[in-house]
Amino acid sequence: MIRKDDNVQLDEISEEGLVSEDGVVPGGVTDVSPDRDEFLADVLAGLKNPQKSVPAKYLYDRKGSRLFDRICGLDEYYPTRTEIEIMQDYVHEMADVLGRGCVIVEYGSGSSTKTPILLDALESPAAYVPVDICMEHLTEAAEELSRDYPGIAVHPICADFTQDFDVPSFAPHERRRVAYFPGSTIGNFPPAKAVACLQSMADLVGPGGGVLIGVDLKKDPAILEPAYDDCEGVTRDFTMNLLTRMNRELGSDFRPDAFRFKSFWNETDGRIEMHIESCCEQTVRINGCVTSFKESETIHTESSHKFSLSQFAEIAASANLNVDRVWSDDKNLFSVQYLTVVNGSC
Ligand code: AVI
Repeated sequence: MIRKDDNVQLDEISEEGLVSEDGVVPGGVTDVSPDRDEFLADVLAGLKNPQKSVPAKYLYDRKGSRLFDRICGLDEYYPTRTEIEIMQDYVHEMADVLGRGCVIVEYGSGSSTKTPILLDALESPAAYVPVDICMEHLTEAAEELSRDYPGIAVHPICADFTQDFDVPSFAPHERRRVAYFPGSTIGNFPPAKAVACLQSMADLVGPGGGVLIGVDLKKDPAILEPAYDDCEGVTRDFTMNLLTRMNRELGSDFRPDAFRFKSFWNETDGRIEMHIESCCEQTVRINGCVTSFKESETIHTESSHKFSLSQFAEIAASANLNVDRVWSDDKNLFSVQYLTVVNGSC
């Protein structure tokens, strides 16, 4: 299926793939993802900043989502395999804490690769609600999960999960809502936005609900840097794909060969930064607006913050969430944490 404004070849589109005016796809997916105008406005606003930037969510078109899946399987990229290891080792403890009749709302579900580990262990889950910005990825994963778990209601939502979206009630089976946010995507937000994102999860799950979240931990930059600049160049291709996407969807004239990928550990802010760097002085035209680049000037595309346990507990507390449980691997590379809504909030 395709999103309303995806600029794809007509022969890829079937009538069933089109979305109706109310945002509901005939296949049953709710679509509230950003459209072209919003993409254009975000790009133009970001490129006006002294440090040019484009929101990281636009890295995830169909090709970007596929390249991200490849990143997850790279030797250098430790987060995915470590988180899966933690899930496999402790999922029964997690299922005990979550209890029966859960509605699992997965933020940024992508290919939903870690979800079966959780769904297999949970007692009578009431529903699974994957939320992702990439319609193709979302529907493929949701169809597969519906086939594999015929007893669980699967209700996909195509949305930018940093914006409001509604989750229907699954009464009478629903006993608790749990926001599932694996992958340490929380680290891709600046601290204030990370708090806002957790706060919106707390609001969505309500009192008695929880947040099961992957949180990447601080470690030696010698492990971090190759994880975000791999020798096969998949992370480079994932980042540089943004230029091709802007050219295709916004009609800009970026010359991809006049830019290069740059990634580094920023010790002060405790984060890996990823940028697209201009190889020369040049101008680029986007929807009639001209943007100038100096040689070595960059577009900041993504940050990946790494946390100590106490730093993350502080962020959670600012969102009225209490760290109830922490599961980690034996090298303390990564953690999966269960946060509960502090009584009296919401
Ligand atoms: C999605 N997110 C958790 C990834 C990360 O590790 O920050 C995004 C990523 N970008 C390049 N490599 C991975």
